[in-house]
Amino acid sequence: MTAVIDTDRLTKRYGSARGIEELDLRVDRGQVFGFLGPNGAGKTTTIRTLLDLLHPTSGRARILGLDSRRESREIRARVGNLPGEFSYEGRMTGRELLAHFAALRGMRDLGSADVLAERFEAALDRPLRSLSRGNRQKVGLIQALFHEPELLILDEPTGGLDPLMQEEFLALVAEQRDAGRTVFLSSHELDEVERVCDEVGIIREGRLAAVESVEEMRSRAYRNVVARFHRPVAAGDFAGLPGVEDVELEGLTVRFRVRGDLDPAIKALARQAVADVEITRPTLEELFLTYYDRGAAS
Ligand SMILES: Nc1ncnc2c1ncn2[C@@H]1O[C@H](COP(=O)(O)OP(=O)(O)OP(=O)(O)O)[C@@H](O)[C@H]1O
Ligand SMILES: [Mg+2]
Repeated sequence: MTAVIDTDRLTKRYGSARGIEELDLRVDRGQVFGFLGPNGAGKTTTIRTLLDLLHPTSGRARILGLDSRRESREIRARVGNLPGEFSYEGRMTGRELLAHFAALRGMRDLGSADVLAERFEAALDRPLRSLSRGNRQKVGLIQALFHEPELLILDEPTGGLDPLMQEEFLALVAEQRDAGRTVFLSSHELDEVERVCDEVGIIREGRLAAVESVEEMRSRAYRNVVARFHRPVAAGDFAGLPGVEDVELEGLTVRFRVRGDLDPAIKALARQAVADVEITRPTLEELFLTYYDRGAAS
């Protein structure tokens, strides 16, 4: 596998304030990599440093095999980037902005801009300042995509998009992967990351807390069980079973988590008069918290 993004202890401080600390990131060609973290974790700082819009305080980054500092011009020509704040003032229309980017990139025409505009119902002929946030975001996405780059680096790409457009965007990301391209996207939306990404990196307070495939994340995960009974049960009917944790009994309803084999819990449920049962996977949101707990404990 070839690394498309490869960083070596990449660090960016703002004066003495934390930005990102010793980030070792690797994204291989053809991957969709989700970069997750809460507000202020360092997602935008990472992306801006990769693109040499910020200079690293220490450490290095290679993008498409090129040095992020010395070869930043070539990198920017070959990468599609959606900045976190896509805001252009003034009278310029989307089409004029795209023409400007096309010239910078040495393109002869507007590539797939019109096809994308139709797909995302984007208004390219209106002044950007007259567009709503979501509609401006669509122009930003087209700007990142219309030259069909081999690597997309997108900072919160679905921010401001309505649910229908989010769906369309996720479908587009899957198509990019199928075409062999690489996508690095930051998000707070754990659900969208789970749906579209192959691998997830979790950043917390400027440090990479975990990198895992979405599959691993799911397989390691527990199940949430909620059961309601016709007749009273005791918490002790479930607490102490292998893999069963956090048993809570409330009236005729019991709630617990199961790690690993579900069978002992199912058999214990079956000995009771079950009125209803629900077994669910944790949301990525819940998983996210387990990383934080683990981090805090160490
Ligand atoms: N220009 C700046 N000067 C000083 N500190 C900054 C600057 N930009 C960012 N920071 C700090 O760096 C840290 C990381 O910020 P960053 O914008 O990278 O987070 P983020 O993960 O993108 O957050 P969000 O989800 O809100 O977009 C924060 O503590 C932030 O306050
Ligand atoms: Mg940000």
